[in-house]
Amino acid sequence: MNISIILAAGEGTRMKSKTPKVLHEICGKSLLEYIVDASREAGVDKNVVIIGHGGDKIKEHFQDHPIIFENQPIGEDAPYGTGYAVIQGQKHIEDDSNVVILCGDTPLITKDTVDDLLKYHRDNKLDGTVVTTLLDNPIGYGRIMRDKSGNVSKIIEDKDATEKEKEINEINSGIYCFNGKLLKEALGEIDNDNTQGEFYITDVVRILRDKGYKIGGHIIENPDEIHGINSRSQLAFSESIMRDRINSFHMENGVTLINPENTYIEKDVEIGNDTVIYPGVNLEKGTKIGSDCIIRSGSRIIDSVIKDNVEIESSLIEKSIVDNGTNIGPNAHLRPNSKVGKNVNIGNFVEVKNAVIGDNSKAGHLAYIGDAVVGKDVNIGCGVIFANYDGKNKEISKIGDNVFIGSNSNLVAPLNIEDLAYIAAGSTITEDIKKGSLSIARARQVNKEDWVYKKGPNNQE
Ligand code: UD1
Ligand code: CA
Repeated sequence: MNISIILAAGEGTRMKSKTPKVLHEICGKSLLEYIVDASREAGVDKNVVIIGHGGDKIKEHFQDHPIIFENQPIGEDAPYGTGYAVIQGQKHIEDDSNVVILCGDTPLITKDTVDDLLKYHRDNKLDGTVVTTLLDNPIGYGRIMRDKSGNVSKIIEDKDATEKEKEINEINSGIYCFNGKLLKEALGEIDNDNTQGEFYITDVVRILRDKGYKIGGHIIENPDEIHGINSRSQLAFSESIMRDRINSFHMENGVTLINPENTYIEKDVEIGNDTVIYPGVNLEKGTKIGSDCIIRSGSRIIDSVIKDNVEIESSLIEKSIVDNGTNIGPNAHLRPNSKVGKNVNIGNFVEVKNAVIGDNSKAGHLAYIGDAVVGKDVNIGCGVIFANYDGKNKEISKIGDNVFIGSNSNLVAPLNIEDLAYIAAGSTITEDIKKGSLSIARARQVNKEDWVYKKGPNNQE
């Protein structure tokens, strides 16, 4: 049985934020979620998260996740430290389990590293394992002391280290694996007799080793993985590494990114091969894009499904579906719950909201289509407005197939416009239209001949 204890009770003061540190996001996903996911993907099903500052917000954010939360008491007189945090979770630790300890603020940790840690721990029959790495600049981190046989004997915190100890460049990542029974035993013996007056989890290493147990140090190659976040600039740094990972993944899958450094694809977005993405595009959480699409600069797509062969130019698409072969933009806005069919053209400055648009229909310029069901092969002229709101209620307009809606018409909902109806430009339509009918609803044009000449001397030739 594997269990993880994830430490997330620290205050994160350097973030200067109202949001608890571990709820900050990189590439559209909270820091804590990355760690929980890595742990779960590595086969750890029991995940205990220790919360303190902002705990209620964290619980709320993760209400749909199978996570066990434990509160660490906070306050000026409350004990503090990573060891004290782990103690809060110890009632969940079974004697014969492997306990993985992770930090809530190191989102770059991968499933593979948690896997490797468990494997290293098992294969070498260790009682405890510390994940370490070598850093050119180890300042701030705990330093790893090894004995003659190469096992870890002690971890010394930067603040407690002598000048000589500070020269050690193998550092403690803050990620460990311990045998459950031994960890509980050692937790009972840690104290806060150190420079910071904190209960250190790192003391468990010394305590177990002094009792003759074997603690290994598993060195990982890529120090990026253990990069912790304490400030906004570290948040941005981690985001840039995560962005790199995500973008490389898509390029390996056959997606062209014209300039990956300026392409912002959130975690778990899906993209088909031979799709081309220009710089300055944001693809956000929940979005799925098909093959052979072109997404041009200045487009932002949120939680939407874009099928194959779609071209999108500088447009905003929210919680909508766009079917094969359709063109969107420039400067179009699909608001939530829009479903645009195949080979449709939603052009310049067209806004669509909560509307279905049938295959081959067109709204090329300056239109608002809200709360509507539009059939196939419909032409929506320039400046057409679906007046869906009477000040109190929203109403639906139904437009059949092959309808022609002339430019600058207002369709005052609720309406039922049947197939093949033809609406003359500039009409304000307030009544239903039968199949195949022409509807003109505007004042008749009056021409007064020579009116200009007759008006007065200033206008005469
Ligand atoms: C810790 C390690 C250090 C290691 C470094 C790696 C200790 C004593 N030191 O130091 O050897 O090199 O991580 O990043 O463990 N937390 C709680 N409750 C607390 C205190 C901390 O939940 O009372 C959480 C924090 O929210 C954070 C994690 O534990 O997620 C690590 O705490 P932090 O204060 O950042 O530890 P470091 O001083 O960096
Ligand atoms: Ca830290």
